[in-house]
Amino acid sequence: MNALRFCLNDRWLEFSGIAPSTTLLRYLRDTQRLTGTKEGCAEGDCGACTVVVVEKDVEGKPSFRAVNSCLLLLPMLHGKRIYTVEALNSAEGLHPAQAALVEHAGSQCGYCTPGVVMSLFEAAYRTDLDEPWKLDAALCGNLCRCTGYRSIRDAAKQVAGSCPKDRFSDQLAGAAPGPMQLTYSAGPQRFVTPGSLGELWDVLEANPAARLVMGGTDLGLEITKRYAEPALLVSLEALEPLRGIREQPDGTAWLGAATFLTDVEAWSRGKLPPLERMLRYFGARQVKNRATVGGNLCTASPIGDLAPVLLALGARFVLASRAGERRVPAEEFFLAYRKTALGPREVLAAVEVPPLPPGARASSYKVSKRREMDISTVSAAFFVQLDDGGRVTAARLAYGGMAATPARSRSAERVLVGNPWGLETVTAAANELTRDFTPLTDHRGSAAYRLLVARNLLRGFHDETAGTPVPRLPHPHTATAHVGGGGA
Ligand SMILES: Cc1cc2nc3c(=O)[nH]c(=O)nc-3n(C[C@H](O)[C@H](O)[C@H](O)COP(=O)(O)OP(=O)(O)OC[C@H]3O[C@@H](n4cnc5c(N)ncnc54)[C@H](O)[C@@H]3O)c2cc1C
Ligand code: FES
Ligand code: FES
Repeated sequence: MNALRFCLNDRWLEFSGIAPSTTLLRYLRDTQRLTGTKEGCAEGDCGACTVVVVEKDVEGKPSFRAVNSCLLLLPMLHGKRIYTVEALNSAEGLHPAQAALVEHAGSQCGYCTPGVVMSLFEAAYRTDLDEPWKLDAALCGNLCRCTGYRSIRDAAKQVAGSCPKDRFSDQLAGAAPGPMQLTYSAGPQRFVTPGSLGELWDVLEANPAARLVMGGTDLGLEITKRYAEPALLVSLEALEPLRGIREQPDGTAWLGAATFLTDVEAWSRGKLPPLERMLRYFGARQVKNRATVGGNLCTASPIGDLAPVLLALGARFVLASRAGERRVPAEEFFLAYRKTALGPREVLAAVEVPPLPPGARASSYKVSKRREMDISTVSAAFFVQLDDGGRVTAARLAYGGMAATPARSRSAERVLVGNPWGLETVTAAANELTRDFTPLTDHRGSAAYRLLVARNLLRGFHDETAGTPVPRLPHPHTATAHVGGGGA
């Protein structure tokens, strides 16, 4: 059947003939005339277009996820349940998310307000908002030009985690959304969501020019900003073998390539602090609710934020095709600028991250012009292992933004290994970075600035891990976390 089907504000819709590259935002405003959802940037940066989708979490349970409707293509919603701000309209009165904004005077011109309300809606039903900084993280994807964030945050504090029992919470008690297998076309464009790996290999064999897509937070910009009209998109979203997080008996973590980054972030909390730290400053919650591990790595962006962490932690990448699986070390995956080791008709299935051994020191850093929602100027992740005498026995120093691909500094690592872990050795190693990296000068930073930052990050790593070998982010670590003085 060549039709799309999803549940919008508790009403199932079925339709065909609309181009697969149509975004949910355009559909809501132009076709459904649901103009509560606003367009600000059309690139995932402002949150004015935030809606909520019911999504399966890693345990298979339904959860509400705030997402940017400007980055979602309609076929990605096949079989799913979506709520826009209009769904909150009820004869019974305001939803607690709306009531809290009114009470705390969290709206002026109102342009951002529907998006803020939908982010607060998601936060209302979350049960993991147990540290104050998480309120900032829940809201950092919603820009407001006039109200000021304090009143919005006060509203968030009131409503977050309140778990109202209402017609929405009934959705969380029900079954998780089912499989979304789909073959859809309109005009010259096609969108296929294979329901099994066998089906995926068939589609890729029959269509060598097909483009893979997962969350669409990277690829979506080609459509909204460059007006691309891909002839065939093949989504990996319904492929269960590529999803989820599993801890293997030897402590290795298996992270499915199609796993959303909010799920990876939640899992990594306390377990793998270098990953948790990097994901804290990766985009906004709306982006991470769609962005995946595989999408981030397969763009092979020199400033993709997961790559340095996985390089430093010694991860292996699992590549899958009809011929089976093969594993490559993280550093062999990135071949050249935006070029990976993936062969034709091959996908990234997962990454495997070994546990941190005893004696390990590891952390990660992201340096950008803004703390929230910004692209890295330089990112770094470091791992060193020390023997009982304090000598370095192994080192992996990985950087983003310093070369055409995310890469390790082998020269600096060589200086560290075999020597005592102290400032003198670290300074000598930092001075070696110029052997491996000739960074670019661009609008984010000059080559000299990047090198200086890269050196200082290594020294900072030494200092930061002196007391705590594998530090989490310090808490509270945001400008607003002390507001109201309490937890969420
Ligand atoms: C507002 C905004 C903020 C962002 N912030 C950050 C940030 O802070 N740090 C950062 O690193 N990135 C950031 N990004 C970029 C992007 O969100 C991430 O790279 C994200 O992880 C991409 O995942 P996705 O599933 O959405 O990828 P998609 O857009 O679905 O796919 C990206 C590419 O990867 C390919 N692909 C996807 N999955 C696979 C697979 N399993 N096997 C083979 N190929 C595959 C696709 O063919 C496509 O070419 C941001 C993007 C936006 C819009
Ligand atoms: S319109 Fe700005 S995030 Fe979608
Ligand atoms: S109230 Fe005007 S942009 Fe937020």
